[in-house]
Amino acid sequence: MSNYHIKHLEEYYQVYRKSVRAPENFWEEVAEEHFLWYKKWDNVLSWDFTKPDVKWFEGAKLNITVNCIDRHLTTNADKTAILFEPNDPNEEAESITYKQLHERVCKFANVLKHQGISKGDRVCIYLPMIPELAVAVLACARIGAVHSVVFAGFSSTALATRINDSACKMVITSDGSYRGAKTIDLKGIVDEALEDCSCVDRVLVVKRIHSKIQMKEGRDVWLQPLLDKADTDCKPEIMDAEDPLFILYTSGSTGMPKGMVHTTAGYMVYTAYTFKNVFQYKPEDIYWCTADIGWITGHSYIVYGPLANGATTVMFEGVPSYPDYGRFWQIVEKHKVNQFYTAPTAIRALAKEGLEPVEKYDLSSLKVLGSVGEPINEEAWHWYNDNIGKKQSPIVDTWWQTETGGIMITPIPFATPTKPTYATLPFPGIQPTLMDEEGNELKNNQVSGRLCIKFPWPSMARTIWGNHQRYKDTYFSTYENKYFTGDGAFRDEVGYYRITGRVDDVIIVSGHNLGTAPIEDAINEHPAVAESAIVGFPHDIKGNALYGYVILKDVGETRRHDNLRKEINQIITEHVGPIAKLDKIQFTKGLPKTRSGKIMRRILRKIACKDTSNLGDTSTLLNPEVVKDIMDNAF
Ligand code: PRX
Repeated sequence: MSNYHIKHLEEYYQVYRKSVRAPENFWEEVAEEHFLWYKKWDNVLSWDFTKPDVKWFEGAKLNITVNCIDRHLTTNADKTAILFEPNDPNEEAESITYKQLHERVCKFANVLKHQGISKGDRVCIYLPMIPELAVAVLACARIGAVHSVVFAGFSSTALATRINDSACKMVITSDGSYRGAKTIDLKGIVDEALEDCSCVDRVLVVKRIHSKIQMKEGRDVWLQPLLDKADTDCKPEIMDAEDPLFILYTSGSTGMPKGMVHTTAGYMVYTAYTFKNVFQYKPEDIYWCTADIGWITGHSYIVYGPLANGATTVMFEGVPSYPDYGRFWQIVEKHKVNQFYTAPTAIRALAKEGLEPVEKYDLSSLKVLGSVGEPINEEAWHWYNDNIGKKQSPIVDTWWQTETGGIMITPIPFATPTKPTYATLPFPGIQPTLMDEEGNELKNNQVSGRLCIKFPWPSMARTIWGNHQRYKDTYFSTYENKYFTGDGAFRDEVGYYRITGRVDDVIIVSGHNLGTAPIEDAINEHPAVAESAIVGFPHDIKGNALYGYVILKDVGETRRHDNLRKEINQIITEHVGPIAKLDKIQFTKGLPKTRSGKIMRRILRKIACKDTSNLGDTSTLLNPEVVKDIMDNAF
């Protein structure tokens, strides 16, 4: 029995037990069986959560692009690796074979080298969902440069913060991007960001929308002429198992985004192994994940995991609503997609449009459906199951995080019986546990608690770039010897997990992780604002929407409230990005605070959620009178 391909529940339990009893043996077997190494490891695992310090496959030498590309060339050179579906359905799809991908990655890697990038340098990639994005990521990995992909919906300020934090030497961008009927001036955003980034001396520009843009002499270069001249072969850099592969930023509850650092060998092994099992990928299948490569889902399950398995992975540039709400289903029919992986927010938005756009298309190719990024509510789960999967395709509700690198809690399709809203069981090698607020482990079933992981897994982030202390404080200090996820969860009578949501000040809006602090900081930049607090409230499509409580400096200022609301959202768009705009803004005279000056968000959350029958203990409030005032004026 290969533990690489789980097909029955009994097999899952067997594999799982083995993975927990002897984790080192388990992962060693997986690593030996399925990957190419220049040199094998001296030690499978060393770890100490108190530092925290985790190393997998220490001493091993490899290059991840050899595993994702070169090794498929002997048997699968002409198989499609990346199937690119453009924003506009009238533009032709592009099929890139493994052989072509090899050539494109090598050329791009040679360009990077010629432009002065070498092993360990950080390269920021700010591109739309076009093939160059995947190629740029792999080109960095080819030469050992550390990529930092920034989602191309982030504002110039957010981009600058991320570029500076990891001192990127180069930015790879495009003239612009298509997004449904709109175009976005990406290069303009980069130009603005770079006014504040002295570390960047080169910008490579991909031509996508053929718009007129400014090219700064000595800094900006068009990519294509460089590629035309580049050599088609590039020797892979030999990397240590624990060399950083990439940095990816995620929001924190406070201040700066956290640059999560993922390393090479463990990340490769885990993303490849999970991809194969969670999607039950077969060699002839067409797999499509609708995420953007700007997020971890795209890194792990559009690029690295699928390619390490020699899969055909679809990359879609557009949005689900353009030219109409049938676009996803049209693509499924056109490419005969077998595995389809998306987010609950997309499912809810599509469900709202009724069945007509679905029924127009033949979805019979689908075998497995995936969900990721936020809890999937029961209604959305059933809609997905009934109308997309026709009750034939199991839904894998996959729980994981930027920090975990790969899928952690998930059903194995055709093996684990699914249950709406439950991510179900831990993936082999993952040891979840629930804790109460006092730090006691909750050993029984049918309990709710805070979700922690007790034992290391290969793809866990190793640190926060430039701030190991913050890594320790955020994830390893709340509970002794455990990784704290920041999520709450319920474990049912058979041990299935249901993720109930964040227990910190991170709010998930349309599947995007947003920290309250950077949004509040942006609002407070407005000259009329004295203080603000953001909370989430339920939203039919976005899952959560943002509700802002804002204190104005001039409390009598009522004339301009509507204008102020627009200006506040404009500032948020500039500082964080349009995804962080507030749905509701309530101007208030005060915010409920504890005697130590901490805002009591619990109360604000209840008011925003219209759940004010029991506000809980308010006895520690310094200013209880503001609560009634806020309630009286709430939306
Ligand atoms: O709260 C959990 C939620 O998304 C958070 C991680 O967000 P991010 O780092 O952006 O990664 C998203 C893609 C992996 C988690 O802490 N989350 C993710 N997947 C699920 C989920 N909540 C419930 N169910 C899920 N399947």
